[in-house]
Amino acid sequence: MKKIFITRKIPQKAVDFLSERFDVEYNDSDIMLPKEELIGRVKDKDGVLCLLTDNIDSDVISAASGKCRIFANYAVGYNNIDVKAASSKGIIVTNTPGVLDDATADLAWALLFAGARRVVEADRYVRDGKFDSWKATLFLGMDISGKTMGVVGSGRIGTNFAKKAKAFGMDIIYTSRHRSERFEEETGGRHVSKEELFRESDFVSLHIPLTEGTMHYVSERELDMMKNSSVLINTARGPVVDEKALVKALQSGQIWGAGLDVFENEPQIEKELYSMDNVVLLPHIGSATVGTREEMGMIAARNIADVLGGKAPENCVNPQVLG
Ligand code: GLV
Ligand code: GLV
Repeated sequence: MKKIFITRKIPQKAVDFLSERFDVEYNDSDIMLPKEELIGRVKDKDGVLCLLTDNIDSDVISAASGKCRIFANYAVGYNNIDVKAASSKGIIVTNTPGVLDDATADLAWALLFAGARRVVEADRYVRDGKFDSWKATLFLGMDISGKTMGVVGSGRIGTNFAKKAKAFGMDIIYTSRHRSERFEEETGGRHVSKEELFRESDFVSLHIPLTEGTMHYVSERELDMMKNSSVLINTARGPVVDEKALVKALQSGQIWGAGLDVFENEPQIEKELYSMDNVVLLPHIGSATVGTREEMGMIAARNIADVLGGKAPENCVNPQVLG
C-alpha cells in the first residue's frame, strides 16, 4: 500500500478519504513539526499533504525525493514550497484554488467593515462597561458606500472581492501586471497604475500571491501616497507589506487604519500593533469556514489520489513535471 504523510491536523473528511486508499501517517497534534522531524517523516512516503506553515525547502524535498511523487499543499498560496526544487526532482506540487475565493474575499470585507467602522474597538468599549450614553461623536468611522475601492491583483480572489464592492456602489479601480477582461466584465473596475491606485483609493485591498517580485509591494513609498483617511486590508500574505513601515504610517496618521489577517513573520507580529486601536488583527483565518476548509482538504486528498493513481491532478502548480 502506498504511504502518505499528513503534516498537521486537517478536517477529518480528507483524512478518512486518504485512509480508505492509502497507508496514512498523520500528525494530528496540530503542532508544527520541526524541520528535522519533517525530514525524517517524508523520507519513505509516496505523497505528502502539507500545510502553509510547513517550510518545504530544498532539504525537505531532497529527503522525500526518490519515492515521493507529490506535495499537496493545503492552501492556494504555495510560497512555503520550493517549487523549483520539487520540479527538479520530478515531484508534483498542487494547491487548492477556487474553493476559498468566497471565504477569503468575505473575510477581507469583514476586515474592511471592522476597520472602517471601528467595530472591534467599539466592542471592547462596551465590554469594558464604558457605554454610558449615546454620543454624537462616539466612534466616528469612515463611509464605505460610494467610495473608491482599490483592488490589488485581478485573480480569482481579487475579482470575487471587487464584485462585492459593486453592491456598495463603490467606484472600483484595480492594478495588476496585465489588464483582466474577466475582472472588468464582472466588476466594472477600471485598470490603473500602481501609483494611481494608492493615491486615489479610500480602501486598498491586497489580493496578490507572495513571490520574489511582490515582497514589500506596499512599503513606505506606497503608504506615503495613500490618503490620510484610507484603510489598508491584507488577506494575502504578510511579507507583501513592509510591516515596520505600516506601523509608522499608522502611528503618524499617514493612513487611517488597517485590517490584517496575515503578518510578515507569522505568528510573530510587530509588537506596537498590539496596542494600536486603528488596526484589526486576525490570526490568518481567510479561508476558515467549515465548508471551505473541508473542501480544501478534499481537493488536496484527491490531488494525491489522482497523482498516485497515475492521473493528472485537478490543479498543479508545476505542470511541466506531468510531462
Ligand atoms: C491561505 O492562506 C491559503 O493560501 O490558502
Ligand atoms: C487565487 O486563486 C488568486 O490568485 O486570486
